[in-house]
Amino acid sequence: MKVFVTGYSGHLGPAVVKKLDASGAEVIGFDIDQKNVPGLADVRGGDILNYDQVKAAMTGCDEVLHMAAIAMPFYAREQEVFNVNASGTFNVFKACAELGIKRVSVTSSVNAIGYNFGVKVRDLSYLPVDGSHPLFATDPYSYSKGVSEDIGRYFYNRYGISSVFMRLGIGINVEDIRSLRARVDGLLSLPEKEGIREVRRIEAEMDERRLYALREAPPYRNGTEYVYECFTKEQVIWSSHVHNFLIYTHLDDLCDACVCALSARYEGSHPIFVSDYVNMLGIESAKLALLLYPGAKVDFDLLKGYDALADYREAEKMIGFRAKHSFTDLYKEVFG
Ligand SMILES: NC(=O)c1ccc[n+]([C@@H]2O[C@H](COP(=O)([O-])OP(=O)(O)OC[C@H]3O[C@@H](n4cnc5c(N)ncnc54)[C@H](O)[C@@H]3O)[C@@H](O)[C@H]2O)c1
Repeated sequence: MKVFVTGYSGHLGPAVVKKLDASGAEVIGFDIDQKNVPGLADVRGGDILNYDQVKAAMTGCDEVLHMAAIAMPFYAREQEVFNVNASGTFNVFKACAELGIKRVSVTSSVNAIGYNFGVKVRDLSYLPVDGSHPLFATDPYSYSKGVSEDIGRYFYNRYGISSVFMRLGIGINVEDIRSLRARVDGLLSLPEKEGIREVRRIEAEMDERRLYALREAPPYRNGTEYVYECFTKEQVIWSSHVHNFLIYTHLDDLCDACVCALSARYEGSHPIFVSDYVNMLGIESAKLALLLYPGAKVDFDLLKGYDALADYREAEKMIGFRAKHSFTDLYKEVFG
């Protein structure tokens, strides 16, 4: 099987290429930043915004894994983030339509829901969140991910191309998780109403900074580190994890999910969460849901024990993926 992989040079790409190569795929790479990555059978350009380049490079491939993106709202100007992510996705699907490729796997993000990077945050509607949860984005990255998912639906409706959009969680920094757990333990020790009031206060304080910060002092990259001068360290940790529903995706699991997605047989276009099946705080999920997301309706039948706050079952059903590197393996390392 010849797999066309866009965005292979980035942070996640090389590990994914290695895994695909090991699974027996012939991997054809496409990236504006053309690096030599072990496991690639060929590199063919180029810029995702150049349709002719995309189509020529994709010719002869059987399957597509689309990862190329501007992967943060603040890495480029708003319109550039949108263009690369949304128009780039359109180009990939359109080339598939013209070349007769009937299946596309795409790396989307938990941010498609719009809960983390925006200048405004709206309460979640329900928990666990799933592929059908309403989207409310006020930053170009999250918005472009939601639009890309819509592009997938368009190409299924018009051309019968099936696709999965894998909404990835983030990695874990052990120190951050430890400090967030201590903070949440503190909130849980308060009487219920007081804890919720405190969560509302934390969120309101962040909202205020967000409005100013994302416009006037956007975060930037210093080497491999992201610098958020506009938020305190505590706020960055809160935002990165609470606003990502406390879900975690190990790099190796993401690679497995890509292999599963490319070999799965399904119909339609589906956003699915690719994450661990437990939350990353090791606290009962129903308690976390009621405290941290007070506006959300909680489905207690789905949110049992330490279940992830995003529905991991959709990925199991759709592409046969279940995380192998669970947070339960890290639990002792983090909390002793
Ligand atoms: N890293 C994460 O934790 C994470 C989480 C959620 C979702 N994702 C998604 O996974 C994918 C890969 O993420 P990453 O962390 O490796 O991002 P990255 O920024 O490291 O890599 C993205 C790649 O896309 C390429 N690219 C950018 N513009 C391009 C263009 N015009 N034409 C061709 N290629 C272009 C870049 O050169 C880069 O190699 C992205 O779609 C991202 O949105 C990542």
